[in-house]
Amino acid sequence: MVQAVLPLADDISFRTGELCRAVGFPEFPDKHADLIREMLGPGGARPIDQPPAWPCDVADDHTPVEYSLAVDHTGRPAVRLLLETLGASPSLRTNVCAARELLPRLAERYGFSLAPFEAVAELFLPEDEEPQGRFAWWWSVVLRPGAPPAFKIYFNPEVRGRSAAPGLVAAGLDRLGFGGAFDTLTRRALRPGALDRYAFFSIDLHTQPDPRVKVYLAHHDADLAQLLRAARAAREVDEEQVREFTAIAGGGTGRFRARPLISSLSFLAGDTDRASGYSVYLPVRDYAEDDEVTLRRAHTLLTRHGMDPAVLDRALAVVARRPLNEGVGLIPHLSLRTGRPHTGLTVYLSAETYAVTPPRPESLAS
Ligand code: TRP
Repeated sequence: MVQAVLPLADDISFRTGELCRAVGFPEFPDKHADLIREMLGPGGARPIDQPPAWPCDVADDHTPVEYSLAVDHTGRPAVRLLLETLGASPSLRTNVCAARELLPRLAERYGFSLAPFEAVAELFLPEDEEPQGRFAWWWSVVLRPGAPPAFKIYFNPEVRGRSAAPGLVAAGLDRLGFGGAFDTLTRRALRPGALDRYAFFSIDLHTQPDPRVKVYLAHHDADLAQLLRAARAAREVDEEQVREFTAIAGGGTGRFRARPLISSLSFLAGDTDRASGYSVYLPVRDYAEDDEVTLRRAHTLLTRHGMDPAVLDRALAVVARRPLNEGVGLIPHLSLRTGRPHTGLTVYLSAETYAVTPPRPESLAS
């Protein structure tokens, strides 16, 4: 008898449910399962035993989904997915088309406004030229028990080429009412020269009228000093928290020469120049030998912040398909959120649908 192989979308949707239950959601409604399948788009129908049809950059092995667990002092974690909608024959263009088709359906179902999207779409989704780079449109969807899912869209500032990125970010901020923010970024957060790049520009899709924007910077060949510099573009960042996070997650505060450190600055209604929030994302998989090490660092961080590490163990038990010391990248990033409304940690988890990165002989952190 031929064993049926699951379509990618069913596999991801099933695992998302397992993850939610493992971290304490009382239930995982069918409509969440359907939503995840729908968001993966026509390309989600591909059986998981076939190699990926699109070199999706959401995850190293090209799975178009990355899970994350966001925790804070409440002890009630949120499960998040970073996701790329795939067209039937995936490409930057067909993936954007599939996402565009989905957007109004989601807006109607969940009651969010399309105004912020419409304000910036023509900047970041070029119709007059071929989109460039590794992606044009990613989503994040946040699941919490008893609440409707919350969505963001991530755009690629380099979709019209690298030199166009600052202009796109400036125009995007301006159109969403954060006219003074770009100046803050360039004056306070970016190093002169080419070592800091605009990595993502995200908008929240929500029911409130106020737009919320996050600008992400990738800091190549950077150290703690550059993170603190970027953090100063936000109000009220506890620098000691950033230092401690970097030392623990990165295994040191020296120079990070492999994958770049990433900062994000979040602008909320009323922010005219400085941002309300600062987050740092550390690609821990490039700076650790294997996932026993990445998990130990995540535990240390959770414990330092008074959060229960057991929730992460339960999450890993349903996501991991291999022993932790047999690869690196099950925990690809660790992240610290500072500023308003309160501090939190996010642990990213890879699906490893298609491949596992072998352990590194030694850590690269300097
Ligand atoms: N895989 C890409 C990277 O590692 C994009 C990405 C996925 C990412 N999740 C992320 C970037 C979390 C920063 C933080 O760069």
